[in-house]
Amino acid sequence: FEVKWDAKAAEKGGWPSFMAKEISEEPEAVANTVLGRTRDGQVVIPELEGLDDLFRGISRIVIVGAGTAAYSAFVGKYAIEQWARIPVEVELAHEFRYRSPLVGPDVLVVSISQSGETMDTLMAVKEATRLGAKTLSICNTQGATIPRESDAVVYLHAGPEVAVASTKAFVAQITGLYLFALHLGRVRGTVPAEVQAESIDELNTLPEKIRWILENEQEHIEQLAHWMADTRSVLFLGRHVGYPIALEGALKLKEISYIHAEGFAAGELKHGPIALVEPGLPVFVVVPSPSGAPELHSKVVSNIQEIRARGARVIAIAEAGDAAVLPFADEVLRIPLAEPLFEPILAVVPLHIFAMGLANAKGLDVDQPRNLAKSVTVE
Ligand code: AGP
Repeated sequence: FEVKWDAKAAEKGGWPSFMAKEISEEPEAVANTVLGRTRDGQVVIPELEGLDDLFRGISRIVIVGAGTAAYSAFVGKYAIEQWARIPVEVELAHEFRYRSPLVGPDVLVVSISQSGETMDTLMAVKEATRLGAKTLSICNTQGATIPRESDAVVYLHAGPEVAVASTKAFVAQITGLYLFALHLGRVRGTVPAEVQAESIDELNTLPEKIRWILENEQEHIEQLAHWMADTRSVLFLGRHVGYPIALEGALKLKEISYIHAEGFAAGELKHGPIALVEPGLPVFVVVPSPSGAPELHSKVVSNIQEIRARGARVIAIAEAGDAAVLPFADEVLRIPLAEPLFEPILAVVPLHIFAMGLANAKGLDVDQPRNLAKSVTVE
């Protein structure tokens, strides 16, 4: 009698792919990253204690990263500027490195990386250090090179990510940036105590809300992906914090489904991209909350009407109960209600599921897409 087993399959714990397993772990990735970082209704990141003077003294933050990590940085910019009232620039690490960036001792350069080994990001950190800036690494991999080369580190606790397409690390990266923004805001005295407390409540409810999406929408999204298996091109639109989510949705689809996909800021449509819209073109739209961000919501609904009038097939990612999008959307992927700044963590989940569903429907290897490596260790 011989027991046949396959080490890889065992590691997947019964899931058909690492990507499926890692999407299912998104709730824990958020919860574990928050764990141990709140105290008496305030965010306190123990690893950053002792750096208060540094955080009070800086005049600017530059966040560097690549790919999905850079999209999480764009969400982080909104959170840091809102809570810590300090200007933030986001720059692709490979661009930062080669353009003589204007950074010095008054600038904090924050790098964001799942692996902590991405050469482009590492070289950006080294360049920042050479120019006299202080560096902070937000990283998912304990003891990796980038955290070792940085002045300070905040580890994410998403657990090991194996699939080339980053999913649970992305939600953990955004969570880490929210925590950092709230920590910084507390130290700089720019976040009222009630905002700290409400934000912590919100962070603590996000895992349950992600679980709601996985339980109530995953099947519907996979079915939609199946119907769309022959699609040649897909657009993604978003505004404000929904914009980086549109970019992430498009990247994930390109990466594992080999489908042409573009993400745009919805306000940019009329400046060019609307010319691409033709009958039948699928367009995913990240819709802000009607109650939390009414102004943005009505702008996005107008964008939906504009593309619908040109025959696009609209797939809205919208708050469950948002009646305003129903008449104009061909499909609605529902997400639970959240404060506007926290919505990206929820809105991205359907897009991760969709990209995986489409790659599966095309019979592709979702964990190991062609031409890509999990960690890009060359410049
Ligand atoms: C994400 O799906 C990609 N595989 C890729 O963009 C990745 O996020 C990027 O290479 C950065 O990797 P890092 O987070 O390990 O630095």
